[in-house]
Amino acid sequence: MAVPEKARMRVEALRRDIETHNYRYYVLDAPTIPDAEYDNLFQELTELEATYPELASPDSPTRHVGGVPLEDFPQVTHRTPMLSLNNAFTEEDVAGFDRRVREALGKNEVEYAVEPKFDGLAISLLYDRGRLAQGATRGDGYTGEDVTANLRTVRSIPLKLRGTHPPASVEVRGEIIMYKADFERMNARQRERGEKEFANPRNAAAGAIRQLDPKITAQRPLRFFAYGLGDPGGTSFDRHSEILDWIADQGLPVSSERSTARGSSGLLGFYRRMGEKRDKLPYAIDGVVYKVNSLADQRSLGFVSRAPRFALAHKYPPEEVLTEVLDIGVQVGRTGVLTPVARLKPVNVGGVTVTNATLHNEDEVRRKDVWRGDVVIVRRAGDVIPEVVSVAQPGPRAGSDRFEMPTRCPVCGSEVVRLEGEAAARCTGGLFCAAQRKQALLHFASRRAMDIDGLGEKLVDKLVDLGIVRTPADLYRLGVGVLAELERMGEKSAQNIVASIEKSKSPSLARFIFALGIPGVGEEVARILAKHFERLDKLLDADWAGIAERKKQIQKENAARKRRGEAPLPLVLEGIGPELIDSLKKFFSQEHNQEVIAQLTSGPHAVQVQVEKSRSAGAGRGFSGKTFVLTGTLPKMTREEAKELIERHGGKVAGSVSRQTDYVVAGDEAGSKLEKARGLGIAIVDEAGLRKMFEEAST
Ligand code: IVH
Repeated sequence: MAVPEKARMRVEALRRDIETHNYRYYVLDAPTIPDAEYDNLFQELTELEATYPELASPDSPTRHVGGVPLEDFPQVTHRTPMLSLNNAFTEEDVAGFDRRVREALGKNEVEYAVEPKFDGLAISLLYDRGRLAQGATRGDGYTGEDVTANLRTVRSIPLKLRGTHPPASVEVRGEIIMYKADFERMNARQRERGEKEFANPRNAAAGAIRQLDPKITAQRPLRFFAYGLGDPGGTSFDRHSEILDWIADQGLPVSSERSTARGSSGLLGFYRRMGEKRDKLPYAIDGVVYKVNSLADQRSLGFVSRAPRFALAHKYPPEEVLTEVLDIGVQVGRTGVLTPVARLKPVNVGGVTVTNATLHNEDEVRRKDVWRGDVVIVRRAGDVIPEVVSVAQPGPRAGSDRFEMPTRCPVCGSEVVRLEGEAAARCTGGLFCAAQRKQALLHFASRRAMDIDGLGEKLVDKLVDLGIVRTPADLYRLGVGVLAELERMGEKSAQNIVASIEKSKSPSLARFIFALGIPGVGEEVARILAKHFERLDKLLDADWAGIAERKKQIQKENAARKRRGEAPLPLVLEGIGPELIDSLKKFFSQEHNQEVIAQLTSGPHAVQVQVEKSRSAGAGRGFSGKTFVLTGTLPKMTREEAKELIERHGGKVAGSVSRQTDYVVAGDEAGSKLEKARGLGIAIVDEAGLRKMFEEAST
């Protein structure tokens, strides 16, 4: 059957479009169409290729899928060896490196290309006349394994280079990684299915690449970042930074964090800046890499044994370390949940001394099979609570070393229950339990709740232990005198605390709801509730059973409408499911909670909960539906505050810049998002500009 010209042209156009969208998504990190629309294009191309097999092409974007399983990986010899880097751990190491480079080159100052050091798996991609011909692991540096079939499934690796004049042949070097968020999602799925979890993104990525069945690799969310060339083929450059720019032009992802720096102070500045950003990057890095930028200088410096003299890896302290479990205790949380906690022999993890690590719940302790006396791997990533990843070496394991969930709360002695279908064991003591009371108070005062400055853990411990404060309402009756009498608290600090308590007295409804600490009600749910009820009294009078019933009816009606192809009715309290409604009903029907809310909102010390302005009636109508992206550190506002301000004016806040973005709010050290916004011609404002814009809109 002859292929109609129209189909041929459509296939070509679709391939071009999909490749462009892949490039925007993976390389520029600035998609211009929603995922669903991309899926439609992809589907259309897949169908056309199935209808007209004559149009098949090995570098069609539909070919990023797994082929037939392999028996074994054939060996490949790299055209140029894949060497390693010398490591530096201290500032002195870096100064020594820069000195040796300067002396060898006879220069006063040297320019370096600086990049993140990706924590993944090194690979080499061979492009012949612009087409992906082979992909290999590093192996021993000279011979690796041919994992082409697996690498072809990685969407961010183009099957065809974008450049119009591809070199006859070129080796691109880089790292296969997994984004932290993708890794978390994948592990959550593994956990749900009762399958083995991966220890970290690097192991998950390495395991996926060495899968004999490419179909399995295709299901793993792998990414690629290039950091250089092996055999440069027909290309020629003067600087390493030009190589990276060229690679990016070819449609391969290159880190947007790359930069150049001069002298060892420039290198250390980059190390510090990336160190501060490290936790916020979407991928794991274990250091930064410095490379002499001039390629002529690189050649004259040459290599010592297996590492270049012109490059250096400057490592960050590891985020995963080994240590011993001294004991396994439990911690009682705000809602009474008992969390098993490993008490550890103190270790430095990523620059912080860690003595406790969470084991999440009883099932996790069993699954990971952690006993007192075991040597375990402990991980800490950024601000998150350190956790026990796995057992590295079991200890002697006497019977008494096994963890047992206590049957009585270690704080208040109340019975501990574990409801069917729940992972958590709970203390039934409620606010009778001092641990729960303390946690509830800390949550109430926390920055995103009532934002009471200075009310920290130590003070709350004291106030609760001495019986001065029992409920959040008691906080508003605190006087300077009582506080100042507390051990180690001066008159001035006491005044400051009373002042910040005073300042917290007119919260938004959403903040107040969040502060109450209703099980399952986070900030997002609190916002939904505030928007729906608008006033606290209406929330308190809510007929939860009626709402649950109405939600059910609407859902039923919508299922019928869907079958008839009609538009659905809007849901009441969208995003709030039956369990949450149950939790809300329980919370607001408890006499104790009603009493605390009444105490909080009446009398001479009353908190004035603000009425939530509905969007349509609110200020700044002009911003409804506008998308804002925040980047960098704002001088006066936290991110949450900026988000709240924007939402109050009808706008919404997105995580990444795209053509859909209306405004980018840039603070100090704004990075790639700002550059992207400039590139796309999006309006950029600073904090003051943002405030002004909103003020003008509401007058
Ligand atoms: S350059 C001559 N740049 O680190 C060596 N390597 O010990 C050229 N790595 O496994 C390597 N990020 O895969 C270079 N930005 C980066 C890197 C990087 C990670 C890995 C590399 C290799 C190891 C080198």
